[in-house]
Amino acid sequence: MTAVQGLTCKRIVLIGPMASGKTSIGRHLAALLGWRFTDTDQAIEQTSGVDIATIFDLEGEVGFRKREHSQLVALSGQTEIVIATGGGAVLMPENHPLLTRDSLIVLTVVSRIRQLERARKLINRPLLHGGDPEKVLDETWKTRQSLYYALANTTIDTTLGSPKELAVRLHAHLIHRTAV
Ligand code: S3P
Repeated sequence: MTAVQGLTCKRIVLIGPMASGKTSIGRHLAALLGWRFTDTDQAIEQTSGVDIATIFDLEGEVGFRKREHSQLVALSGQTEIVIATGGGAVLMPENHPLLTRDSLIVLTVVSRIRQLERARKLINRPLLHGGDPEKVLDETWKTRQSLYYALANTTIDTTLGSPKELAVRLHAHLIHRTAV
């Protein structure tokens, strides 16, 4: 195993709301560390052969959450990996040990205005279909924020900066313990 100097953990898991930059920042962070990168939504789509919206249509949110849990189980033994999770991965208590074990948990937070800007470009987010996106984002944040903060080891505000710049800042924080 290649130890990254200054970093004692074997896995980094990004948690946080939809459209807060988990996937784009996680991908750049993995490249900086020389680790693999996985996005649980993308892995679910690869395993099931259909997109997330279709899973929600056919199996509902409950079916999707079961698949999300199975994906986290499948990833649980893997090391030298950056994992971007879906915004609701924190909801199932059974997921918590899978997220935290041997991992450093990074919470991505974002201003509502920036989040809405990003969310408008996302087409494959069933929870945003058919309702007022701002209301959905407000409500999901309210129900999930205490879970996010309870699980997170560190938090990065992704409102300003490109995914690459934010990943560089996060990398420096994790390796050199600089401010994030
Ligand atoms: C969800 C977030 C999505 C995806 C699914 C449900 C949520 O992932 O897992 O649409 O419950 O917040 P992102 O956080 O990557 O958008």
